[in-house]
Amino acid sequence: MGDSRPNSPFHSDNINPSNTDMLVGALDAQAATSGVRRLRDWAHLGVSARPGERVVDIGAGTGSVIQVLAAAVMPDGDAIGVEPNPGLRAVAEQRATEAGSTVRFVDGDALALPLSDGDVDVIWCERVFQHLTEPEKAAAEIARVLRPGGRVALLDTDWATTILHPGASEVVEVLTGAALSAPANPHAGRKLAGQLSAAGLEIDDLGSQALIQDTRNVAWPLVRMLGESAVRRELITEQQRDALYADLAAAAEQGALHMSVTMFGVIAHRPVG
Ligand SMILES: C[S@@+](CC[C@H](N)C(=O)[O-])C[C@H]1O[C@@H](n2cnc3c(N)ncnc32)[C@H](O)[C@@H]1O
Repeated sequence: MGDSRPNSPFHSDNINPSNTDMLVGALDAQAATSGVRRLRDWAHLGVSARPGERVVDIGAGTGSVIQVLAAAVMPDGDAIGVEPNPGLRAVAEQRATEAGSTVRFVDGDALALPLSDGDVDVIWCERVFQHLTEPEKAAAEIARVLRPGGRVALLDTDWATTILHPGASEVVEVLTGAALSAPANPHAGRKLAGQLSAAGLEIDDLGSQALIQDTRNVAWPLVRMLGESAVRRELITEQQRDALYADLAAAAEQGALHMSVTMFGVIAHRPVG
C-alpha cells in the first residue's frame, strides 16, 4: 500500500523553511486565477464584513484575504490571520506592513484556535480543510469562536474533480488519481456544508468555481511532479509518460489544453439564541 501520510507541503507536519518560496509562488499563482478571484468575490459578499467587527482568517497563507477583510472592518475593527507555518507568516507580516494594513498574524492551529468562545464576527477559512485529518474538529472550533449571528466563509477544493485533457485515458487516470493522494482530506469540498451543519451552523449559500489553467500553458511543474512519481511507482511506463507530455504540449500549442479542479464554498452563520 505504501506510505499513506499526506505528502502535501502545506500539511502542518511537513513544514520546511526551504519550501517557503515555492509555497508563496503557488499561492500567488492561485490567487491570480479567475476562479479563485470569483469565488473570493462571492464569499466577501456573503460574509459582508463591516466596520468595527473582528475578522479572522484561519490558515491565512500570505495574508491576501485577511488584508481585504481588515480594510472592511477599519477604522476600529480587528483583523487576525492564524497561520502555523512560520515562513508563510513572515511573508504575510511583511506584505501587510508594506501595504500599511493593520492586520496581525498569530501562530495557531485550526483544531485548537487561539481565540475565546463567541468572540469573532467573521471567519474565513480557504483551502485549509483539505490539509486536515480531523476537519470536523475544525468546524466545531469555527462554531465555538463565532458569536451568535457571526458568519463564516469556508472554501475548499475537491480533488476528485481534477480534469487533465488530452491524453490516453489510462495514463490520465493515473495522474489525476495521484492528485487525489497528496492532501490529507482530498474530498474536502463536498463535505464543507455537512461539517458546518453538524457543528450547529446554518447554511446561507453554496458556491463553486473551477480553477482552470490557461489553455496554452501546461502547468509543467505539477504535471512533471505527477508524471515522474507515476513512473517511479511503476504505474505508467516512461513511454506512456512521454506520450502524455507530447499530447499536452501539442494541445497547448493549439490552445486546446484543459487542466482544472473545482473549488466549493459555503457561507453559514451561528444561529442567534
Ligand atoms: C493551500 S494554503 C491556503 C492559504 C490561504 N488560505 C489561501 O487561500 O491563499 C493552506 C494553508 O493552510 C495552512 N494550514 C495547514 N494546516 C493547518 C492547520 N492545522 N491549522 C491552520 N492552518 C493550517 C497552511 O500553512 C497554509 O497556509
